[in-house]
Amino acid sequence: MKFLVLGAAAGGGLPQWNCGCANCNDARAGRIPASGQSSLAVSLDGRSWAVLNASPDIRQQMMASPRMHPTALRDTPVGSVLLTNGDIDHIAGLLSLREQTPFTIFATHEIQQVLAGNRIFDAVNRQVVPRVTIALETPFDLLPGLSATLFAVPGKVPLFMEGAQVQTDLEGEQTVGVRLQDGRKTAYYIPGCATVTDKLLGQIADADALFFDGTLWDDDEMIRTGTGVKTGRRMGHIPISGPDGSIARLAGLKAAKTFIHINNTNPIWQPDSAQRAFVTGNGWQVAADGQETEI
Ligand code: MLT
Ligand code: MN
Ligand code: ZN
Repeated sequence: MKFLVLGAAAGGGLPQWNCGCANCNDARAGRIPASGQSSLAVSLDGRSWAVLNASPDIRQQMMASPRMHPTALRDTPVGSVLLTNGDIDHIAGLLSLREQTPFTIFATHEIQQVLAGNRIFDAVNRQVVPRVTIALETPFDLLPGLSATLFAVPGKVPLFMEGAQVQTDLEGEQTVGVRLQDGRKTAYYIPGCATVTDKLLGQIADADALFFDGTLWDDDEMIRTGTGVKTGRRMGHIPISGPDGSIARLAGLKAAKTFIHINNTNPIWQPDSAQRAFVTGNGWQVAADGQETEI
């Protein structure tokens, strides 16, 4: 199973258009690599790919990745796009894929409803680009020979659909993880997760590789840095650090572990930071745009 990180950053990207934090300024100045919004491509043969989440940066991401280039006059190596939630950073890229070339959009009913409820997505012609609804816990072929299974992970409705009251640990069809199996290896892609429950630990125990929500280093990062007013958990994202953080909760997992969907405020973007050293010292990788791995 081959993976190509199309984008490692969380919503907004690195740098984010309106952010003058140290990371964003360093990315603008080229002192650290800039990064697109989160998206992961997966393939068995390196020719036919599935894209997990279509970020608003997908045009640039495809341009930068020869794997994603057309090999004929009007054509794409992308056979399917799978959506793990209805947030803008994961669906808006569909609008860039509207030029009458076939692929399949896979998502749960609830995530399909987000597309159906926003008529702008009708620009992606359903006659050419079928939308296939996937039930939880039901394997399907994401690509020929590559089976995927969606399962609920704790999360919330998309930011732009939040009401007055927001439940941040919903377990249903609005936020899902993806199990990928090729008959040889098993990988998981979970770019948004509010908390690692014991149930989730059990579900991913067989992982050979895990791409996991690395949005924030700690829960009050956006408040502390003056960039926001919400905690990570309020945003549906577990922090990396701390006793209930992802590193501690996933410490027993024997898999190649990679953080993806990393917010621009996160200190792990800085290669020389203590936080990056902590992450790598605990056996985790930090995803980078264009990075290819194989299991
Ligand atoms: C998130 O992951 O919390 C969302 O992408 C937020 C957003 O839509 O900007
Ligand atoms: Mn996001
Ligand atoms: Zn920033």
